[in-house]
Amino acid sequence: MSSAAASSPGVRRADDWRRTHTCGELRAAHVGQRVTLDGWVHARRDHGGIYFVDLRDRYGITQVVLGAQFGEAVRLSGEDVIAVTGTVVARAPGNVNAERETGAIELMAERLELLSKAKTPPIDVTASDLPALETRLKYRYLDLRRPAMQKNLVHRARFISAMRAAFEQEGFVEVETPVLTKATPEGARDYLVPSRVHPGSFFALPQSPQIFKQILMVAGLDRYFQVARCFRDEDLRADRQPDFTQLDMEMSFVEEEDVFALWERVLVATFRAALGVELATPFPRLRHAEALERYGSDKPDARFGLELRDLAAWAKKSEFKVFHGALERGGRVLALNAGSVPFSRKEVEELGAIAALGGAKGLAWWKADAGGGTGPLARFAAGPLAAELMQLLAAQPGDLCLFVADAQTVARKSLNEVRLHLRNKLRLVDPKQFAFRWVTHFPLFTRDEEAGRWFSEHHPFTAPEDWALGGPGADPGALMSRSYDLVMNGWELGSGSIRIHRPEVQERVFEILGIGPEERQEKFGFLLEALSYGAPPHGGFALGLDRSAALTAGLDNIRDVIAFPKTASAADLMCQAPAPVRPEQLAEVHIQLAGQALEKSAL
Ligand code: AMO
Ligand code: AMP
Repeated sequence: MSSAAASSPGVRRADDWRRTHTCGELRAAHVGQRVTLDGWVHARRDHGGIYFVDLRDRYGITQVVLGAQFGEAVRLSGEDVIAVTGTVVARAPGNVNAERETGAIELMAERLELLSKAKTPPIDVTASDLPALETRLKYRYLDLRRPAMQKNLVHRARFISAMRAAFEQEGFVEVETPVLTKATPEGARDYLVPSRVHPGSFFALPQSPQIFKQILMVAGLDRYFQVARCFRDEDLRADRQPDFTQLDMEMSFVEEEDVFALWERVLVATFRAALGVELATPFPRLRHAEALERYGSDKPDARFGLELRDLAAWAKKSEFKVFHGALERGGRVLALNAGSVPFSRKEVEELGAIAALGGAKGLAWWKADAGGGTGPLARFAAGPLAAELMQLLAAQPGDLCLFVADAQTVARKSLNEVRLHLRNKLRLVDPKQFAFRWVTHFPLFTRDEEAGRWFSEHHPFTAPEDWALGGPGADPGALMSRSYDLVMNGWELGSGSIRIHRPEVQERVFEILGIGPEERQEKFGFLLEALSYGAPPHGGFALGLDRSAALTAGLDNIRDVIAFPKTASAADLMCQAPAPVRPEQLAEVHIQLAGQALEKSAL
């Protein structure tokens, strides 16, 4: 980092505390210079009258030497903020610290100023093991002082900045859409904001800028993008926060291939600039149905094999009742070959618990051998059935093969869990490899039998492959959509689609979704009207920036690339949000608490 970060322009006073350099900047070439450093006391060592202080800022750590003349003044505590002025000296060859960029020099202090005293911090910023999550979130400013977290935030900023530059290069216009708005359905609950001026009315925070970006296409903006904050009240996981960021975009007069090619160019430019990584394009395409069949997941990690095989035909020939039963109930018998793995019996049995995460009631295993093999399945794989099974699973003698017989979704989900578990346990992948796939040809609707209605697989504005929607009386379940996902290393990084630009098709989709004419007008009338004034064919995409930043930094939780994230129960532990508000404030927005909310609100 250059001295751009260091301040003190103009004339310096003799007692100027402002830094001339950062703590990551000084090298052998600076020896002999008089400099001032500002930073946090990272570590101290008392060598009988001489004190060594490791001084830290965002740019690095520099060793400071405080001679005996400082006496009592050097009673510093960890995390105190100090200014040190002195002369840069070369370390004796034996004392050079090759692991630190500033390790060739140290600062011989002449002046020390305590700028700010620190209490004993609840987080040891210098420790490599992580404190409890609650502590990290409550004292986030201390957690963020840890060099690893600073690195994550800088990485995120570079990634976003590179992507923004790529969009500008492509002629896209950045437009900000409102945060106080009307519900945009993306499948989650809305965060609502009561209106003071309009009693009984509420804004919704956007789940995405979806409707606005389509209206920007109607408005003729042609190419829009935005680093957009989105808000979704949904169950949180490692890859989900209630408040997150998308690189959202939309473009006019395009089809799928145009959107794919644009994003491939943008991602190549972004990875090059932010990570120094060259991505190979085009990214392979994978149909949704094929992804499920081969990997048991619509967001496959394509960096390794262990693909699923269908064993229905073989299962029918074997005598295993569990397999027969599953097939008779319309289910599937699926399997994967884990290869020659050095697992103990216990480790093999443990895989059953992993399969159970996907709902499987059992996981049968077989150590392949043409003579019949071993394991619970061995007695059903006698004679020619053993050789046939080996062929179906491309198994060598000794390979561990794993089987689930169940309803299709359960069998797929369970073997997907097993597959990912084996990936981690056997270290089958290179964390620095990025395997992108475009997943295409999703169904337009999925049926929720419990609710007794159809839901959009992506969102209701996604174009069908067939503008006529199969005509009157067609089965909605058979309709294909023009949506696509971008997946990487087992994560869904982004989604998009070609949109409906014809109001009558949009009306028909609402109808299939069970949204009646009145509700349609009330919720989406403005969109339908906009579409009726000459809407260009258009399509777009949104990339999860938190997920992209986390994955490219080698992290498995997006919390670590978000400065102030929320807990699994959607709370901010640092500022204690959400929080009760005073009755007067509630009255202003025409809200009265009831029941549990009234009891819990202590104010
Ligand atoms: P979708 O709902 O698939 O599509 O979201 C796009 C991407 O946003 C990220 N994402 C999230 N990241 C963190 N926390 C969350 N709670 C969260 N929810 C979603 C994911 C996801 O792939 N308007 C459409 C896009 C379009 O059609 O253009 C949309 O929002 O990485
Ligand atoms: P059992 O006949 O119940 O002793 O099961 C024999 C083997 O089949 C055990 O290894 C079970 O884990 C396994 N198994 C049971 N149910 C299933 C299933 N639905 N799919 C795959 N394997 C199963």
